[in-house]
This record gives sequence, C-alpha cells and structure tokens, in this order.
Amino acid sequence: MKQSELDFINTLRQSSRYIEQHRGKTCVIYLPGDLMLASDSFKQLTQDIGLLHHLGLKMVLVMGAAPQINAALTDQNIPWQHHQQFRITTTEMVTVFQQAIGMVRSQIEAVFSQATNQQSTPLTLISGNWVIAQPKGVIDGVDFQHTGTLRKINHQAISTSLEGGQIVLLTPLAYSLTGEVFNLNTLEQACEVAKSIQADKLMIFGHSEQMKNLPKQMSITELNRTIKHAENEEQARFLTQISKTNFHVKRVHLMDQNEPDALLQELFTRDGYGTLIFSDRYHQLRPATIEDVGGILDMITPLESQGVLAKRSRERLELEIHNFIVIERDQHIIGCAALYPIAKGIGELACLTVHPSYQGQHLGHELLKAIEQKAQQAQMKQLFLLTTHTHHWFIEHGFMLTTVEALPSQRLSLYNSQRQSKVLLKSLI
Ligand SMILES: CC(C)(COP(=O)(O)OP(=O)(O)OC[C@H]1O[C@@H](n2cnc3c(N)ncnc32)[C@H](O)[C@@H]1OP(=O)(O)O)[C@@H](O)C(=O)NCCC(=O)NCCS
Repeated sequence: MKQSELDFINTLRQSSRYIEQHRGKTCVIYLPGDLMLASDSFKQLTQDIGLLHHLGLKMVLVMGAAPQINAALTDQNIPWQHHQQFRITTTEMVTVFQQAIGMVRSQIEAVFSQATNQQSTPLTLISGNWVIAQPKGVIDGVDFQHTGTLRKINHQAISTSLEGGQIVLLTPLAYSLTGEVFNLNTLEQACEVAKSIQADKLMIFGHSEQMKNLPKQMSITELNRTIKHAENEEQARFLTQISKTNFHVKRVHLMDQNEPDALLQELFTRDGYGTLIFSDRYHQLRPATIEDVGGILDMITPLESQGVLAKRSRERLELEIHNFIVIERDQHIIGCAALYPIAKGIGELACLTVHPSYQGQHLGHELLKAIEQKAQQAQMKQLFLLTTHTHHWFIEHGFMLTTVEALPSQRLSLYNSQRQSKVLLKSLI
C-alpha cells in the first residue's frame, strides 16, 4: 500500500472517535463576509459544512456581510461613519442593506445547492425572523439609528429547525417588535445565539490581526489574561466579545479566515488547527513551585512503588522543581512533567504523570505539548525520554524507539540498567 493511502487510513482511524463525539452536538459557525470573496475556498467550506451536517452535527450559520455592504454603499455613493467601531446605519442605508444582504443570502443558498448536489439528501438552509433587535440608541450624543443590538432570540424556533434536520442561517438583519429593521453586529449575534441555544461549540473565523499569536488552547481565565495583553486593539475587542459567552458555551474554536480548511482539522484532529477556548475544564497548567512538591509526591509515589516511574526523594524533587510544570485543579496537583537539559540542544522529558482520576481527558497530551514548547523555547532540537510502561503512548505522540546507546554520554553514564527502561526520541525541528 502506498504511504499516502496508509496516511489516509490512519487519519480516518484517528478521526473516528471525534465523529462519534460530535454526533448530535449543536454548533454555531460565524462566517465573516470576507470568506465569500474567495469563491473557490468558500465553495469548499460549504461542502465541509455539508459533511458536518451528514455526520450528525446540528448547525447554525451566522453570516457577516461587511465587505458586500461596503461595496453596495460605495456603488450608491452613500458615505458611512463609525462610532466606537460600530457603523451608524442611517434610514437611507436600510434599503441598501436589505438588498446587499438579500444578495449574500441568495449566493449562499446557490453555493449550498451546488455543493450538495451530489448527495442523495440535499441540504436545506432555513432563515427566519428569530432574532429580535432593539436600537443601539444614542451614545456620546451619537444616534446609531438603525444599528441595533440583540434583544432576544427565539431559541425554540431555532432548535425546532435544527431538530428537523435543517441548517439555520442568520444574517446581520434583525427586526424590532415595532417592525423596524436593524443592522446587527454578526460576531455579537453568533456569540449570543450560541449562548441562548446552549451550543456545544461556537466556531469563529477571524482575520489575521485578531488571531495574531494566540495560543493553541486557553481556559476562560487565560482568555481574560490574554485580553489584557492583547497584540492589538482589534484582537482585544474580538476576544472581549467572545469572552461574553463565558461558561455558557463549552468550547469556542477560533480559526483564521484565510484557512477555511481549518474547520475540519479543528474538529477531527487531536491538535486542531486554531485556538480552543474551553470552559468545561477549569484547570491551570503552570510552572511548578516549591509549594507543589507535596502534591507532586502524593501523585507520583504510588507509581514509583509500582516501578512505573523512577524514584525521586523529596530533597531531589525540591532541588529540581524548577524543571517541572504542573496542572492544578481546585488547588490539587493533578498532573506534572519535567524537562531536564542534558546536552547542547538536547533535553529529557521525565515524570509525565496524570492523576488516575483525570486520565483520558488529554491532560497527558497537554503536558507533553507544554514540555515540547518549553524545549523549543530553550532551543532544544531533540527530546529523549526513558519509560518502562508507557512507550506506546509516546509512540502515538510522535516519539520513536531508539537504543540506549543513542543517549548523550552525560545521560548514558546515569542509565539504570536494572530498570531496563526503553529509550525514545522525538525531533523538535
Ligand atoms: C501516560 C499518561 C501521562 C497519559 O495521560 P492521559 O491524560 O490519560 O493522556 P491522554 O488523555 O492524552 O491520552 C489517553 C489515551 O492514552 C492511552 N494510554 C494511557 N496509558 C497508556 C500506555 N501505557 N500505553 C498506551 N496507551 C496508553 C489511554 O488508553 C487513552 O487512549 P484513548 O484516547 O484511545 O482512550 C498517564 O496514563 C499516566 O500518568 N501514566 C502513568 C505515568 C507514566 O507512565 N508516565 C510516563 C513515564 S515518563
């Protein structure tokens, strides 16, 4: 079998658990209007959304249309103004908005019809007056006129459509109870809808400034810290809006809009592609301090007795604590790992442990990623590790078995031949 075919089979195997996990889950996807400008990749994205639908995800699409609205206003020589980053929507603009957004909706419906014409059950998109708006009002003496904010959402109607197997499509237009038309910020709308229908996932495409240097994962606490140290104002606003979903949406995925393929990668691969913000795991991964020694010992001592980990005295652990990282949850240490420099550009990963009550939640994987990141920051190019029981887990995480002799001489002289540990190596380049 060719390597490409084996790769395909392995990828399919790895994704099967995610297919199972996501079935029946509700997912809100925010699609900025810019995505539609690249027609080929947008077509591919709609096919991917169709695939998700067929895999049993219930989907709400919230479509932005800023570039299309800008173009329509420019065409008609209608200037526009912003205040506090929100566009002021005058009465004159409303018809242009309705036309531009009507056009966007029609284009999306056309692309979806084309994207799914090969399938036996074509996808149906459905829109409706499910979002009730109210005027944003007068702020700093500036009247926002037809720029609105979200007042309430008919989440039952949305849920009924989802249960009926339809994909719900929301646009920036919403209506007040007095029958007026309002232009809403679609990112805000996506976040509020996700909250209101208690979506399992909110998937957001952002542009490169908004995504700049974001980590792979953040807890809600880390998100709030990132907002304070944001790379730019745009990013701070973007993340602040997302932080309002708080603990209502379990997982928010942020992806770069220049990489629409990220949608599938984010959902069906272990490492994902963009940034995951989670509220269903309230733990913190951080460098260990001397106060953590007791907690680490409580966790590793039983494994030392079983011969799974090499023995470490309290004194040695205290001396080496700066090499450790820990995962803390509710003031308990539930995971740890250490990185030892052993030669120039070479490190050793040791003592990777997750408390038995928390195993199987990818915390081991999270610790490993953090150690690899730490090693890369220290300019290490290779990571060794010695293990007696866990080599398969490490092989699944990119390590390769090697010989004891491959160890750098400094480490080879300390190798305990009684333990007969297997030696594994991972290149970090
Ligand atoms: C190895 C360890 C850190 C993994 O932690 P974790 O948080 O459970 O890891 P993840 O959630 O990322 O991965 C869980 C998967 O690894 C598998 N796994 C756990 N231990 C394994 C082992 N010894 N060999 C192969 N696979 C193993 C689990 O079955 C699970 O598989 P699944 O996802 O198909 O259900 C944890 O099992 C542990 O603390 N083991 C004891 C300490 C140890 O051996 N450390 C390594 C020496 S440095």
